[in-house]
Amino acid sequence: MPGTVVIGSQFGDEGKGKVTDFYSDKADLVVRYHGGNNAGHTVVAHGVTYKFHLLPSGIVHGKRILIGAGVVLDPRVLKKELSELKGKTDIGIDPRTHIIMPWHNLLDAGREESRQKIKIGTTKRGIGPCYADKAERIGIRFEDLVDEQRLNEKIDEVYPIKKAILEKVYEIKVPFSKEEVFQEYSALGKEFKNYLQDVSLEVSDALHAKKNVLFEGAQGTFLDNDFGTYPFVTSSHPVSGGVAIGVGMAVNRIERIIGIVKAYTTRVGFGPFPTEQENSVGDYLVENGKEFGTTTGRKRRVGWLDLPMMRTSMRFNGFTEIAITKLDVLSGLEKVKVAKSYKVGDKKIEFFPYSNKGIENCEPVYEEFESFKITGKEKKYSDLPETARKYLEYIEEEIKAPITLISVGPGREETILK
Ligand code: IMP
Ligand code: MG
Repeated sequence: MPGTVVIGSQFGDEGKGKVTDFYSDKADLVVRYHGGNNAGHTVVAHGVTYKFHLLPSGIVHGKRILIGAGVVLDPRVLKKELSELKGKTDIGIDPRTHIIMPWHNLLDAGREESRQKIKIGTTKRGIGPCYADKAERIGIRFEDLVDEQRLNEKIDEVYPIKKAILEKVYEIKVPFSKEEVFQEYSALGKEFKNYLQDVSLEVSDALHAKKNVLFEGAQGTFLDNDFGTYPFVTSSHPVSGGVAIGVGMAVNRIERIIGIVKAYTTRVGFGPFPTEQENSVGDYLVENGKEFGTTTGRKRRVGWLDLPMMRTSMRFNGFTEIAITKLDVLSGLEKVKVAKSYKVGDKKIEFFPYSNKGIENCEPVYEEFESFKITGKEKKYSDLPETARKYLEYIEEEIKAPITLISVGPGREETILK
């Protein structure tokens, strides 16, 4: 598997956690390269359900895990997740990784509250404001967190600016002093100092030594800051190219790009969603698929699988293969539908439009399939009902990438390799 990256092909929550967990058995290193604790991965291993936000799912198997420079790291969350793991920890954190400071959470909430027309529905984890500071070049990085003097200097410089914005623009009272922030964060820095590691270098050495490196994506393609449904997006780059800048590696070191495709579509937060089903089909999928956010507990919006979206996702990511997840959730519906194209006036469109305005005018044209029953006990591809195989083969042909894994339940053993 040398360089393998797992990518969410839709709006996130495709089931990357389970697939990463499945492949992490063979991995020497599991690496996160963008996003932060806005992510939520659910992994069921040995009958225990784990939920992670910051740490890559591979940590369940005691693998060495790395946090790349493109991640935004909340050290309070790191502390919490590590304490829940009790000992199984071998971690490296890139010195260039930006740190989520307590003002970022307040700014995220303040900004969202103050939005008049366009609310994003962020996870309020401070992700956007932290990436904004990075771009503005006033961010605090992991190398600063672990160096008391530098941390003090940075906080000295940034704190008054953030306090002024919070109080004057958003009318939010800042509940912590500069000294309190310094005390808490310098202690966290001390605690995590030993994790400091040039992740770019370690990954490069590992790949040269032919080790298996698994890059665990977070969020999904259409939440990409540039190529998603802006402004209803996150602030990082979930597309496959994000791995190169998020780790500090060459693009051609990636051999496998696994696109995770949920057998239907979900979205948390606001933004366009052409195949959304606000009806009994939607209610059924929410219930059967337990479609509630891992991070915020919000009910996810649900709809049919959307092939114009998938073709576009293929263009952005270059999937070498596809993993289909939650196929079992479609069981029990009367009919299963897939949007094969969109109708715009009297024109037919096969790709996702580049603007939200364009997306609003799209009317999905559906292909219908007979329903099927999946029990989760299927072990081989041929165990699946013929109607389900027809559905899968249609998707494969339309996306133009082979399906190599099919998930028929949340557990590890409920996985078919094709
Ligand atoms: P933010 O990343 O917290 O700024 O949120 C921006 C948008 O991305 C919101 O619509 C969130 O619901 C969505 N989002 C962020 N992370 C995830 C994720 O891991 N899964 C699904 N949606 C996400
Ligand atoms: Mg999630």
